[in-house]
Amino acid sequence: MKIIEIPDKKIVYSGIQPSGTFTVGNYFGAMKNWVNLQEDYHSLFCVVDLHAITMPQNPEELRRRTYESIALLLALGINPDKSILYVQSMVPEHCELTWILNCCTYMGELSRMTQFKDKSQKQGENIRVGLFDYPVLMAADILLYQTDLVPVGNDQRQHVELARDIAIRFNQQFGHTFKVPEAYFGESGARIMSLQEPTRKMSKSDDNLNSFISLLDDPKTIIKKFKRAVTDSEMAVYHDREKKPGVSNLMEIYACATGNCLDDITTEFEGKGYGDFKAAVGEAVAETLLPVQRDYHRLLKEKDYLKQIMRTHSEKASMMAWKTLAKARKQVGFVTV
Ligand code: TRP
Repeated sequence: MKIIEIPDKKIVYSGIQPSGTFTVGNYFGAMKNWVNLQEDYHSLFCVVDLHAITMPQNPEELRRRTYESIALLLALGINPDKSILYVQSMVPEHCELTWILNCCTYMGELSRMTQFKDKSQKQGENIRVGLFDYPVLMAADILLYQTDLVPVGNDQRQHVELARDIAIRFNQQFGHTFKVPEAYFGESGARIMSLQEPTRKMSKSDDNLNSFISLLDDPKTIIKKFKRAVTDSEMAVYHDREKKPGVSNLMEIYACATGNCLDDITTEFEGKGYGDFKAAVGEAVAETLLPVQRDYHRLLKEKDYLKQIMRTHSEKASMMAWKTLAKARKQVGFVTV
């Protein structure tokens, strides 16, 4: 691994929950960005198990999914010689900074978070403090590493905004400690929608299994799901998100899988029916995922290797995090001896 802190390279930080299946939407929308960014930035990617327990989890399943997430990120192309790929709970600095930042964050700010409002509504009566505090933990994740860029989906925009506000407030009150990060949304067009209701985002928690493609779906399933994808009655392949949300979504998925642009795709399917088009999309996606799946299944069997990555990378992350935490501790007036 290269030396971590070369000053001329900016720092990219992102996290993902160990929630079992990831979809092609997660891949084309987020993780593919990560893989590209690691070439030009010092990157840290974190499997956020502390965030996961803000919702009820089965302990054995959480542990298994943490391994699976690390294996999948490696299979997707996160390069452990270039990036730091680690597990949040293995770096205790995250919790400690969260506490300090809790004391600089207002109840009102957290009450306004739309994700909290959505999730707490679903939880009914006993809303957990951890769920309310989720964005502060995320701010700690980001601020510990003097992060420049945070590649996230649109749903996390508000949380990154809050991390900026907290950083600015802390710096003003205690003196400069944190870099103020920026959200990074990557190239446009990577917002992959449901195959069944193409005006909604593709989601792994959708009850209709035909609405999303899991990264681990086998080729037959992938092709079948694309065959069943909702289109329209016009029978012409061109891009118009308003008029043709289904076809446009399939075109974007095809573009992500093949690297072809939308115009070329229109030309490719001129005069052809939706049957041919959907089959081509299915095959392209299946073909893209096949090597990823092969690597994933191989890596999952290499438990010792995964453990070694988790251990060494968490140590590296911890060393970086400690520098920032030590400074914050000093600024707020904790004793150092
Ligand atoms: N909350 C993010 C999500 O659900 C995951 C996350 C946790 C994260 N910590 C982060 C993303 C820090 C970016 C930076 O998608």
